[in-house]
Amino acid sequence: MRTVSIDPGFDSWREKARDLILAKVPPEEIAWNDSSNSEDSLFADLESINEQKGNFSAPRAFVDFAQLVACHRNPDRWARLYSVLYRIKIGGDRDLLKKHTDHEIHTLEMMAKAVRRDRHKMKAFVRFRKVGETADTKREQFVAWFEPDHHIVELTAPFFVKRFTGMDWSILTPEKSIHWDGEELHVTDGVDKSQAPTEDALDDLWRGYYKSIFNPARLKVKAMQAEMPKKYWKNLPEAPLIQELIQAASTRRDAMVAAEATIPTPVPKNAYIQSLHTLKDAPQLSEIPLDPGDQSLSAMAKVAATCRACPLWENATQTVFGEGPENARLMIVGEQPGDTEDLQGKPFVGPAGQLLNECLAAAGIDRSAAYLTNAVKHFKWKPSPAGAGRKRRLHESPDQFEVSACKPWLQAEIARIAPNTIILLGATAARAVIRPDFKITKERGLIEQSQLAPRVIATVHPSYLLRLPDVERRKQEALQFVQDLKLAVS
Ligand code: URA
Repeated sequence: MRTVSIDPGFDSWREKARDLILAKVPPEEIAWNDSSNSEDSLFADLESINEQKGNFSAPRAFVDFAQLVACHRNPDRWARLYSVLYRIKIGGDRDLLKKHTDHEIHTLEMMAKAVRRDRHKMKAFVRFRKVGETADTKREQFVAWFEPDHHIVELTAPFFVKRFTGMDWSILTPEKSIHWDGEELHVTDGVDKSQAPTEDALDDLWRGYYKSIFNPARLKVKAMQAEMPKKYWKNLPEAPLIQELIQAASTRRDAMVAAEATIPTPVPKNAYIQSLHTLKDAPQLSEIPLDPGDQSLSAMAKVAATCRACPLWENATQTVFGEGPENARLMIVGEQPGDTEDLQGKPFVGPAGQLLNECLAAAGIDRSAAYLTNAVKHFKWKPSPAGAGRKRRLHESPDQFEVSACKPWLQAEIARIAPNTIILLGATAARAVIRPDFKITKERGLIEQSQLAPRVIATVHPSYLLRLPDVERRKQEALQFVQDLKLAVS
């Protein structure tokens, strides 16, 4: 029996397994030791044998599978993986991985399944908390604490790098910690839970968001508990809400059912405005009567067509809901439909839409693959002044109440599409989505650490370009706008 020591990890196992297979060492002659504190006598002789034997490769499917299994905590995993590799390479059983009834394959599949599940939980339940900002660049820094069941931290790190590229973060775990500084990923030792921050303002924000997306009509307590086992609750800021929301769910569900019959009925203007004249009265998404069984964008658009949450519906021809593929990776948010959009019922089909099309094309972006929508879904306008010639409907910017009243629709669209990138065109869209005092002139560009999507870009609205009287200036601004669009998809 030979003892083979590895640094616990797939790469170390792979290197040694490769030499052992080339030397045709049978599995039963090896004791794998991953405590990395013992010397193995075996390798000096194996290396000299293998020098003459040339290259070795394992099937891709095996490598992918072994990489997952290697993350499992079970110490037997190295021996079992080697045994399967031996049967494939030396025994010639090329289809072994497909033999799900084989005891060894079944055992490894169970391990791979547990690892996949653990990775899924890490992706779903890591919650970053803001801890400060870098002194020089003022980049905000976030830290999260997570306790995985298996050794999944490094394998799962690329997911977080992709999702949160724009912010500095650390994920601390008892075994290993990973840190992203905007350019490189660093791995350090694990830490004690006391080093992770527990409570701050971000928790309140997150709780507010969780409350607004919680839909009582879709509540399935068992499924929810299976998806979010209690062991993760202690690290989740929304956990204290869960019990409360579950208890309130049946009352809220009844209210939603009752509300369904009343929404489409036109409400007399005065009574309506009296009842909805403060911001806090704006509806939440959960109060909008969406069919719990069908929350597709087309179902939402149908309900939005009857929306009376603010007075803009009265003077508009129709609700202009977003448009584009449900699986779009890019979402573009404008302010509100203009005159042409109001008549045609589609976003960005008028002059601003045409300029947007040209700039998207210049940035190499396919408009038909993007989802386009607006912060406000009705056209707000006033008649042109008397004596101004041809009667026209003049655009008026929506006020804060109208933006807030429409926000549940935008939230629902973002939740449904889950885009990789959101481009916010103009101050209204940026204020609706980022914060009410957002300044496009000062803060234009990539928005760091947005929870809405991995990339959020705020830029000017194409109608701003159309309004610039100076041709040269317009050209310059258009170039800058195209740069912003390119940044969004870079
Ligand atoms: N401007 C917008 O913001 N949206 C449209 O759909 C058209 C013009």
